[in-house]
Amino acid sequence: MPTTVGEFRADGETPLTMLTAYDAPTAAACERAGVDAILVGDSMGNAMLGYDSTLPVTVDEVASRTGAVARATDEPLVIADMPFLSFGVDEAESLHNAGKMLKEAGAHAVKLESGSHTVELTERLAELGIPVMAHLGLTPQKVNQLGYARQGTSREAASEIADLAVAHEDAGAFALVLEHVPANLAARITDDLSIPTIGIGAGKNCDGQVLVANDVLGLGERIPPFATSFGDLRGEMENAISDYVDAVEDEEFPADEHSHVESDLDDLY
Ligand code: KIV
Ligand code: NA
Repeated sequence: MPTTVGEFRADGETPLTMLTAYDAPTAAACERAGVDAILVGDSMGNAMLGYDSTLPVTVDEVASRTGAVARATDEPLVIADMPFLSFGVDEAESLHNAGKMLKEAGAHAVKLESGSHTVELTERLAELGIPVMAHLGLTPQKVNQLGYARQGTSREAASEIADLAVAHEDAGAFALVLEHVPANLAARITDDLSIPTIGIGAGKNCDGQVLVANDVLGLGERIPPFATSFGDLRGEMENAISDYVDAVEDEEFPADEHSHVESDLDDLY
């Protein structure tokens, strides 16, 4: 049976789990660990591509890495993040770019950083068979307006987010990411909606949680205050690489068992 977005539902007991992945081995590890959904986030800009924001990330970069994640997994829902300006400028171009994530890369769904400008687009995409995960609160593609500050902290801003959440559910979004908003606002929105809410820096009363893989793995240099590391991959990578360098420099690698001698070639030179 194919994976469908309709199965991405909290059972009322166990929260849904989502994690980013940008490559096949990380995606395979997510699947083995029982992650419900993998987000091929435009956070790859900071996490993997060396940029200091998500703005430079392209459709081709997300599509290429979505392909790697989709090829490496069967069970988890694979969601491709739509990069900055790949949607919202022109409807036909938005539909074409989102369609590419399903047609060419093998995603099950796309995620759009949402606002009043994405309500109609969400409806149109859903109509065409492209499921949409909405994203409200802190939307890092607006870094030049919002920075990375917590959102929805005033009554007015909070009710604007709550209204947009309902508008996106009504437009056919199958889930909603809430990023860096007060926990009581996220709880309220989770109550209001029937689609699942997935929180990041939004407290425990969402239907699920998402984090960036680099933060979970301990691969990044800095992690946001709302994340935590469950490993030290950066330390492990540095150790393995420096052991390799030492072994080559000390002429311990390659050893005899890593090479072979062809006796026929003994008198070649
Ligand atoms: O790009 C990303 O990783 C995201 C999540 C943080 C929700 O958008
Ligand atoms: Na993103």
